Amino acid sequence: MTTAAAAPLQPTPDKAKRSLANYNEETVLSVRHWTDRLFSFTTTRDSGFRFENGQFTMIGLEVEGRPLVRAYSMASANYEEYLEFFSIKVANGPLTSRLQTIREGDTILVGRKPTGTLTIDNLIAGSRLVLVSTGTGLAPFSSLVRDPEIYERFEQIVLVHGCRNVGELSYGEHVLNGLSTDELFGSLMRDKLAYYPTVTREVFRNQGRTTDLILSGKLFSDIGQAPLNVETDRVMLCGSPAMVNDFRAIFRDRQFTEGNSGEPGHFLIERAFVDR
Ligand code: A2P
Repeated sequence: MTTAAAAPLQPTPDKAKRSLANYNEETVLSVRHWTDRLFSFTTTRDSGFRFENGQFTMIGLEVEGRPLVRAYSMASANYEEYLEFFSIKVANGPLTSRLQTIREGDTILVGRKPTGTLTIDNLIAGSRLVLVSTGTGLAPFSSLVRDPEIYERFEQIVLVHGCRNVGELSYGEHVLNGLSTDELFGSLMRDKLAYYPTVTREVFRNQGRTTDLILSGKLFSDIGQAPLNVETDRVMLCGSPAMVNDFRAIFRDRQFTEGNSGEPGHFLIERAFVDR
């Protein structure tokens, strides 16, 4: 009996191979450490790997012949030749404790089936798109702000990034700086995109939690825009589960409906988020 019960924990080599077959093997092209808690990396991209900006896939490492993977949003846009990911580092995290040591030339497993709710077709038409993230939840929005379509569909885009410390904003600053010097996106950004970084545990020009800043109206008044309004605003959320839950309650009180694949709404939440 003991043997039978234990059997599923010991997959046969065949089963292990089958599950590894769900992944492409990609090569790490570059790794950049932003703080002691955050890093980003780029990898090669299989020519058959297609995704929509804002989606995620399972990525990770082969450990003892099996895939050790977690959900990661692509931080790169779907027309780029490479893939980019933005990750937390947790000392005892099963995957991130290993992933944080990757170097150029290492192999990464990238799931062949991207998915996720943060795509513009899951939103009802509106005029302002508010992208709210904390920590590594910025990743899908790093992809979306490089999508020309969001600038066609929305008159204004607001990218909000809440972190503990100023240093944790550095990846986002880097993404935005890259966009501002891009031939196409530079002018789109100047016309339509407002970036609002905020920190909660240090002195900075913007301080406070994203929830409080949006509820109080301070965030919108700081950027010279109208307060939250269900008639015009469409919102995407990615990051801390506590932040996402608080926003869900806030939005439901204000008659925003939650959308998902197949049923567009006023706001969208990405539940797949790595915090270990
Ligand atoms: P705080 O410093 O007040 O906890 P983390 O690094 O833990 O994922 O947090 C990223 C950011 O998300 C921090 O600024 C943190 O603020 C903030 N945060 C945590 N919980 C919530 C919440 N319920 N609503 C809004 N922001 C939150």
